[in-house]
Amino acid sequence: MTLDRKYLICGLVYALAGMGLGIFMAKTANIGQHVTHAHIMLVGFAVSLIYAIIYKLWLVNANRRLAVLQFFTHQVGSLVMFVGLFLLYGGYMPEAQIGPVLGLASFAVLTGVVLILAMVVTAGKVPNPA
Ligand code: HEM
Ligand code: HEM
Repeated sequence: MTLDRKYLICGLVYALAGMGLGIFMAKTANIGQHVTHAHIMLVGFAVSLIYAIIYKLWLVNANRRLAVLQFFTHQVGSLVMFVGLFLLYGGYMPEAQIGPVLGLASFAVLTGVVLILAMVVTAGKVPNPA
């Protein structure tokens, strides 16, 4: 399966999870998880969807290894971030414990941006075969 499609599917799964959490917050009138919800919707759904579009439009001939590394960096970082935020804002784990994990997850998500930026910049330098 192509990476743009994988990003699209992951993004839509996060839309489902994030909206589910949003509906749960609205139903229980407890918005304690609004930061988790916001990041699932934005880092999980919106950013994944934007990456899918970037891969589809600008990274058709991307270096496969770098692209797979970028995909897993973003997806693993995001998943760890969402679980970490859920545990933190749900009061299941203290900040002292989950904080360093969230720091690592954030760094992974940021690395995903650096990698895709590098790929987009270098892709522009490859002559268009068409
Ligand atoms: C089924 C759909 C959705 C439901 C039921 C829902 C529900 C909620 C609720 C209850 C809050 C907390 C509001 C508050 O702080 O008073 C919230 C916040 C938020 N939602 Fe959603 N939401 C939905 C879809 C979305 C979507 C599609 C996005 C973005 C793509 C989104 C992004 C956000 C953000 C960024 C916040 C944080 C806002 C802030 O704290 O200033 N939500 N949502
Ligand atoms: C490395 C990744 C990121 C880190 C470490 C991070 C960290 C944070 C922190 C610490 C807050 C404040 C939470 C609080 O009020 O207690 C926050 C809020 C927020 N962030 Fe992020 N963020 C990241 C990525 C993003 C991205 C990519 C987006 C949008 C595409 C985003 C959108 C938001 C929004 C909308 C809020 C307000 C949420 C609310 O009040 O419910 N964040 N973020």
